[in-house]
Amino acid sequence: MQIVESIPALRETVRRWRGNAETLAFVPTMGNLHAGHLRLVEEAKQLADRTVVSIFVNPTQFCAGEDFGAYPRTPERDADLLKAAGADLLFMPQDDEVYPAGAVTKVEVAGLSDELCGKFRPGHFRGVATVVCKLFNMVQPDVAVFGEKDWQQLTVIRRMAADLNLPLRIVGIPTVREPSGLAMSSRNAYLSAAEKRQATALYRCLSQAKAALEAGDRNFAGIEAAAAEFLLGEGFRTDYVAIRRAEDLALPTPDERSLIVLVAASLGRARLIDNIKASL
Ligand code: PAJ
Repeated sequence: MQIVESIPALRETVRRWRGNAETLAFVPTMGNLHAGHLRLVEEAKQLADRTVVSIFVNPTQFCAGEDFGAYPRTPERDADLLKAAGADLLFMPQDDEVYPAGAVTKVEVAGLSDELCGKFRPGHFRGVATVVCKLFNMVQPDVAVFGEKDWQQLTVIRRMAADLNLPLRIVGIPTVREPSGLAMSSRNAYLSAAEKRQATALYRCLSQAKAALEAGDRNFAGIEAAAAEFLLGEGFRTDYVAIRRAEDLALPTPDERSLIVLVAASLGRARLIDNIKASL
């Protein structure tokens, strides 16, 4: 596996692959890799001849007072994991190459970016859309793979790719969970052993909401309130529990058949997000 830190070096390898008519799949990450990330790499390998993974802790998607400084950075371990997983190239750009001096251009996916997590993390999705668009321009993949765990992020990126006519396909991968149901996340590292056990309540709460929806309950507000109450009892500080139309996160009508329940809640230092789909 090649490890590349500059955009010109990345372009040189990509040009060589393209010269051989090889296709390219891309998995953007912020590192501190776990089995969820590696599942994306596995899928990427099935989708194209070559797999590029990026690790870049993107400063512009962290709000003031968030965990940018504390975000776990484990590049050597990550490189070993990616090599074992069979990635072809690990791209680890520097901040000043991703954001050259004087950079002011931003990618704004209007509306969608201001809801749900966007309400609690102003500017977060602008930072995500901007960096993902830039990374797409650097790597120029045929297909890019994202996790469904970050469903709003995936929805924002799909919208951006469609709106900007980006010449690539976006593929979403179901959430990889611990046996306890807890969604794998780099931020789980912030949880103590006791909090990790407590955190499993998040998946239980989503499963209960899904069961209610699939049993025909259409009192969305009632299901959301019951879930929020449950999380309060389990010691969470809840930002939101929301039932939305899965495809575009629009508010659902009672006859909507493809729903998603999304949650964001904090436990100790960790802000956790998760979601579950309900099909009727
Ligand atoms: P990061 O949190 O490192 O996640 C990288 C990718 O892994 C995302 O597509 C995310 O949805 C996926 N992922 C994380 N946990 C997962 C799990 N348990 N199961 C399946 N997939 C999972 O998301 C980001 O980084 C950044 O916002 C990024 C897109 C790289 C832009 O900076």
